[in-house]
Amino acid sequence: MAASPPDFLQSFWWTARGHEIAAATKQPSACLSFSDPVAKKVQAGQALFNTPALLGGQAAKANLSCASCHVNGRDNPHFFVQGLSKESGTADVTSSFFSLVRANAVEDAAHIPDLAKPGKISRADNDTVLERFIRTLIVEEFSGKEPSAATLAALASYVRSIRSCEGDAVQARSVRDQIALIDAAYEGLQLQSDPATAQLLIRAIRHQLGLIHERYAGARFATQRQVLLESSRNIEALGEESDVGLRSGELAAWHRTFKAEFAPELIAAEPHSLYNEHVVSAALKKGR
Ligand code: HEC
Repeated sequence: MAASPPDFLQSFWWTARGHEIAAATKQPSACLSFSDPVAKKVQAGQALFNTPALLGGQAAKANLSCASCHVNGRDNPHFFVQGLSKESGTADVTSSFFSLVRANAVEDAAHIPDLAKPGKISRADNDTVLERFIRTLIVEEFSGKEPSAATLAALASYVRSIRSCEGDAVQARSVRDQIALIDAAYEGLQLQSDPATAQLLIRAIRHQLGLIHERYAGARFATQRQVLLESSRNIEALGEESDVGLRSGELAAWHRTFKAEFAPELIAAEPHSLYNEHVVSAALKKGR
């Protein structure tokens, strides 16, 4: 009997067989370029880009976000979903796989473009071509809810700021990525007068906590996982407020505790977690 595919990391669902270790431990590097006035908007956009709750239907259920395909805003040579990809690194976003399964789904599979490079869609910031493109993606392709103007503006400013970095094209994945995205969502929340975006940013934080949770597997991390769950529940309660702004004091306290007490511990323990290539490789062997 064929072994069932590994599923201890949610990203394996969209990872080509045999690519698990590379996909779980490496990523294309990206550098952001923007001017100060839009810094918080770009950060909000980056957090949203990494949040499945922005999408709907199949995509959100599978925990897929924009960043599953455009890792770090770039591409993903390891991406493969049966019925959606022709070969690894391709996906069909012109058919309706995520909103309605169609027989011809694979036929239009295209290479996932690197958003650091100029493409078919204008990134000019004096028009709204990019905003309209992203809206169509979310609503029509991924069955997401109608995004607010603030959500779209944030996503577009993030996409406009994505650049390749000088030096290493590939970098290791780290719990620092998740911590940075939590910080980005938190910074984005400082800006929000728009409740819909604020709710999504709270979910962005909770999603990143979940991504940390799955990496700290096994008995030795039972306490850390407990703290992550509690932390996520606390922030969920804040997100239920219709006006997250009202709870900004509590949000700030939450973020302070996370940064000062919890994040350093996670960073110190990272070598024993599933961020480490050897730990991932051992877990894959055990699963077989
Ligand atoms: C399932 C994988 C997948 C997901 C999820 C995804 N994309 Fe893409 N994206 C693609 C592919 C493939 C293309 C190229 C489509 C084509 O050329 O026909 C693309 C194209 C784009 C482009 C146009 C690039 C150009 O040519 O100028 C942008 C911008 C973009 N995506 C942003 C996003 C955003 C924002 C999200 C989340 C709302 C997202 N993508 C989610 C796979 C994906």
